[in-house]
Amino acid sequence: MTLWQSRLGSEPAGVAAEFTESLHFDKRLYSDDLIASAAHVRGLGRAGILSPGEVDRLCEVLEAIRTEIGSGEFKFQTSDEDIHTAIERRATELSGELGAKIHTGRSRNDQVATALRMYIRRELLLIAQLVIDLQSAMVDICEALPDAYLPGYTHLQRAQPVLLAHHLGAHCWAFSRDLDRILAAVQRMNISPLGAGALAGSSLQLDPEGVAKDLGFRCRFQNSMDAVSDRDFVAEALFSLAMTGIHLSRMGEEIVLWTTEEFGFMGLDDAFSTGSSMLPQKKNPDIAELCRGKSGRLVGNLTGLLVTLKGLPLAYNRDLQEDKEAVFDSIDQIKLALPAMTGMLVTATFKTAAMENAADGESAAAVDLAEWLVDRGVPFRRAHSMVAEKVKESAERHVSFSELIEQDGEFGAAAAALLAPGIAVQRRTTPGGAGPLPVSKQIEELRSVLDADASRVAEWLGSIPETT
Ligand code: ARG
Repeated sequence: MTLWQSRLGSEPAGVAAEFTESLHFDKRLYSDDLIASAAHVRGLGRAGILSPGEVDRLCEVLEAIRTEIGSGEFKFQTSDEDIHTAIERRATELSGELGAKIHTGRSRNDQVATALRMYIRRELLLIAQLVIDLQSAMVDICEALPDAYLPGYTHLQRAQPVLLAHHLGAHCWAFSRDLDRILAAVQRMNISPLGAGALAGSSLQLDPEGVAKDLGFRCRFQNSMDAVSDRDFVAEALFSLAMTGIHLSRMGEEIVLWTTEEFGFMGLDDAFSTGSSMLPQKKNPDIAELCRGKSGRLVGNLTGLLVTLKGLPLAYNRDLQEDKEAVFDSIDQIKLALPAMTGMLVTATFKTAAMENAADGESAAAVDLAEWLVDRGVPFRRAHSMVAEKVKESAERHVSFSELIEQDGEFGAAAAALLAPGIAVQRRTTPGGAGPLPVSKQIEELRSVLDADASRVAEWLGSIPETT
């Protein structure tokens, strides 16, 4: 029998029950629901609605249910619409009349909003840790290969040489912003909806403030209708995860390129490669491709939820049940993708000779020549066209660019020396630039940002209830 059966004349039709149930996916909220239910019970105790003995007994019953679900002994029934119903039903079976008091002053609307906030809060913090693990692995590579350089690209055309540490650092800063966004989302969602009831609060003297504190939330809701119908926190989680996924995707795309024979900048460990069922010679970068490919569904999950929310009147509507599969999927995918990317990077070989060879192309330092002229008083626009003419002449006459520069009276040997291998990257000296001096400062800064982020995440994790 469903919880609300007394109101209706018949059991739901099979197809209706099948259509509306969410148990098969919201089971994973069981631990958070049990923690929140125990906090609710303690709140009812403080409000004098349950006696201290009743509070203790109900908390014991909730713990027994945790053991049953954890061990797989819990028998779910077809009438259990969702995990919240299943837990209340079992609490009542185990303690009779007492179990029937557990839902006092509570609705599944504030209950599900609470459990989901708790679940996402913890998962985002665990994901934040995985982001830090990836960044640390990248910074280790930067420190291990401080001198390696490669072409920096614009429009996927070679532009100017950059240190490998600068290139990897660029990805790292993007992940830093992801981490900030994740923690900001956690901070914003860290408000307890419990006590909002179905939509309007209760006539009973509940203690939502105390319940919020008990659950590690920073405060209680301000408006009961907003509390039960707000899913911004799910959308923000989905956006933070989609953005992280897009950063993984962009890196995945580069790894796909770098591991081609054409680039040859990187080799993947066999444990992070795949073979072909037909072509015996193949070694494929499927992990990098899936980092790229998964971003599609992460964006889809965000878009799907936003569309679901768009037309919803206040307050709770059953449409909101559609929030869970999207966010569970995004969480699962990111939790797989981040360590896969980390593992792929730490086991990869960076083929620095090939990178440097590609970066040492003769015209890679063309802008340095123009700046050399600027230093000698030539206006930049004129210097630019003087160098561009030499690049053109070199291509048209098939004469080496450095020879042309050396022979030209306006340039000469000192200018041609700038084109020697490995020189251009050394000359990128401006703050935040791609040369050794600014990059070493940048990597130091990244390390300290990472240390601070690691402490922030650890502090957050210490402030929320444990689930086991
Ligand atoms: N399974 C539901 C959900 O995820 C729980 C809330 C049900 N509330 C209701 N009024 N039917 O949204």
